[in-house]
Parts: sequence; C-alpha cells; structure tokens
Amino acid sequence: MTQDELKQAVARAALDYVAEGDIIGVGTGSTANFFIDELGTVPNRIKGAVASSEATAARLKSHGISVFDLNQVERMSVYIDGADEINHRGAMIKGGGGALTREKIVASVADRFICIADASKLVEVLGKFPLPVEVIPMAVAVVSRRLTSFGATPALRMKDGKPYITDNGCHIIDASGLEIIDPVTLEVKINDIPGVVSVGLFARKGADVCLLGTADGVKTLMF
Ligand code: 5RP
Repeated sequence: MTQDELKQAVARAALDYVAEGDIIGVGTGSTANFFIDELGTVPNRIKGAVASSEATAARLKSHGISVFDLNQVERMSVYIDGADEINHRGAMIKGGGGALTREKIVASVADRFICIADASKLVEVLGKFPLPVEVIPMAVAVVSRRLTSFGATPALRMKDGKPYITDNGCHIIDASGLEIIDPVTLEVKINDIPGVVSVGLFARKGADVCLLGTADGVKTLMF
C-alpha cells in the first residue's frame, strides 16, 4: 500500500468516532484532508465542524459542511488530525503544515484527540522531525537563540523566498537536532519563552487514540 492509501484508510476508520449530529474539530494536512473528503461522503452526519486552519475551513465548505467559529462552540466530542511524529505514549510533534497554534486551541476544547497517521509517523523518541515553533515576528532571533541553548538547530521556515506566514500572521522556527526524551517538560520550557505563540509539541494533552495505518490494516492505539 502507498503512504496515501494508508492515510486514506485511517481517515475512513476515523469516521467511526464521529457521532450523528455532533460538532467536531478538524485538523490540517494531507491526512486531515483525506478525512475531510471522507466526511464529504456523509455530509449530513454532523452538525458541523471547527477548522484548525483557513485551508481546512475551505475544504470543509467545499463539501457542504458547516464551519463554526470556535467562539460559538463550548465543547466537542472529538478532534481529528494527523501528526508529524507520535510516540508510544500519544505525545506528538505537529505543525509541519504550519497550523500548530489553531490545532492546539481547537484540540483543547475536545474530549478526545483522535490522531490519524500512517505507520511511518510512529517513533520511539520524538525529534527527528524538526519541531515547529510559532513566534511573533519580532522575536525570531531571541527565540532562535534560546532554542540553540536547548541544543536545537533553529531555522526560520521560508516560502517562496520569504519567511512563511501563518494564519495568525506569525512566523515558524523549525528546531532540528532535538532528542525529546521528556516532551512534557520541553513543551512547557519552550512555551515559556517570551515571543513564542505555541510549540508543536502536543504532550501535556496528547492523543487519546491513534489510528495507525499499517500494511496489515488499521491498528488502534489507546493512550
Ligand atoms: C499541520 C500538522 C499535520 O497534522 C502534520 O503536519 C501531518 O501532516 P500530514 O497529514 O500531511 O502528514 O500538524 O500543521
């Protein structure tokens, strides 16, 4: 099976976690896109969704799914999203697609985080994938120096020759070279740097369930 077929399989399996009439949280990225397309096959099953990015909102709407502002929604049963890496305790690196802050906000309102990922995302130790950190533009240099002091090699994310701009008007520093043995402590430490909007470590509130696409089928990991 190709990686895309594995992503599609977990996206389809995630529909089982979507209850009739619910408002759900929806993530960003290629796996989340497969999930949105699956939702599009049963558009009347849910009342609507809260999107974690402008791109996700547009794709949901293109399928006729109502998109709610988070300020209109008090709680959601599930938040469904992909990950760049996930460990055996449900801690994740996210933000490869640049939507980490809104992903973290929307996920915080959901009772359960359902991670959908192909098997390549499951790792023993987080950190091979560069850790995204969203920062206020004026703080890029100071935050980069602090990340260097933590042992990382920071790189400002670029797009079309210019610093990448998030949906929140901020920049992203990708911190590579980290071996993240204690994700909860590192999440708190990086969040605490003035100028950081959010860090793409989802450890304090990680995944509750991971639907992992493997050659032997979709495996369900519970944390
Ligand atoms: C976007 C994310 C994505 O969930 C993550 O990058 C995984 O993406 P993909 O499903 O395309 O592999 O965090 O900000």
